[in-house]
Amino acid sequence: MKAARIHRYGEPSVIRIDEIDVPVPAPTDDGDGEALVKVAATSFNPTEVAVRRGVFDLALPHTLGWDLAGEVDGEPVIGFVDSGAAAEYAIAPRDRLVPAPKTVPLQHAAAIPVAGLTAWQTVSHVRRGQTVLINGAGGGIGGFAVQLAKHRGAYVIATASPRSTEAVLRYGADEVVDYTTTVPDKPVDVMIHLVGTPPPWPVPARERVISAAAPVRADVPSSHVVMRYDRDQLSALVGLVDAGAVTLDVTGLYPLTAMADVHRRGEAGEFRGKVVLSAQGESQ
Ligand SMILES: NC(=O)c1ccc[n+]([C@@H]2O[C@H](COP(=O)([O-])OP(=O)(O)OC[C@H]3O[C@@H](n4cnc5c(N)ncnc54)[C@H](OP(=O)(O)O)[C@@H]3O)[C@@H](O)[C@H]2O)c1
Repeated sequence: MKAARIHRYGEPSVIRIDEIDVPVPAPTDDGDGEALVKVAATSFNPTEVAVRRGVFDLALPHTLGWDLAGEVDGEPVIGFVDSGAAAEYAIAPRDRLVPAPKTVPLQHAAAIPVAGLTAWQTVSHVRRGQTVLINGAGGGIGGFAVQLAKHRGAYVIATASPRSTEAVLRYGADEVVDYTTTVPDKPVDVMIHLVGTPPPWPVPARERVISAAAPVRADVPSSHVVMRYDRDQLSALVGLVDAGAVTLDVTGLYPLTAMADVHRRGEAGEFRGKVVLSAQGESQ
């Protein structure tokens, strides 16, 4: 089978499409352990650029891909794995998988786990009636964060450049500030920061700042979210997708063989929303 792997750390060119054996799940007594997933798609997450560059000390060769959408015994599932979803088949602990949404293409559902769970855990403190500034709303996490904050009953001010303004408004933002020309200085209760660099302007939050990306200096309490896998939250997200309360912001579908190019373009800031990579050929 094909797998997008790195044998050493470095630039996108270190990503290779290797031909390797289909992995074999570890046997367990209760059948509750690992599953062999026929991968439909994985997604590009910018944090995996750090993996490729060697920020984490991993055993090499390493198969890329945290997000997983695929089939186990013909049943569509999504999940989050450390062991490499950027391949035609992947091994996943069964407790890392949940039934996939029924209302979106399975490949698009690969956009959900990392970005959706990070957004969920970032907006979880937002209360009904609060005003929230979501900085970086045009990105993969941002699309979920805007919709989840609206779902929680917040008034949402989102920063976005012109290419993302229409999408962010469609996802329910009440106001959009073009961060390329304008400083978001309207006072808010909570600021959610989803950008890899600290905000270069004074934080306008009265209550708290929550970052999933660069640390933010502020006069109010600030916390940092590191996404952790939560099966119940992922199932709830799937439910919101199927209920039409959350729309997936999938802006590109590429073959797995384009992984190096996707990394290159992702690092160059060419993408907005979520980009997914098909593991079973371009035609699916
Ligand atoms: N803590 C965690 O567990 C966790 C998990 C996943 C990711 N992350 C981190 O969270 C951050 C966001 O991830 P992501 O997947 O959403 O990234 P992403 O999809 O790559 O975000 C790209 C978007 O960022 C927006 N952007 C760029 N510079 C901006 C600025 N100065 N102000 C406002 N928006 C700006 C752009 O929006 P426009 O299209 O509007 O220009 C672009 O579409 C990354 O730093 C990532 O590494 C953290």
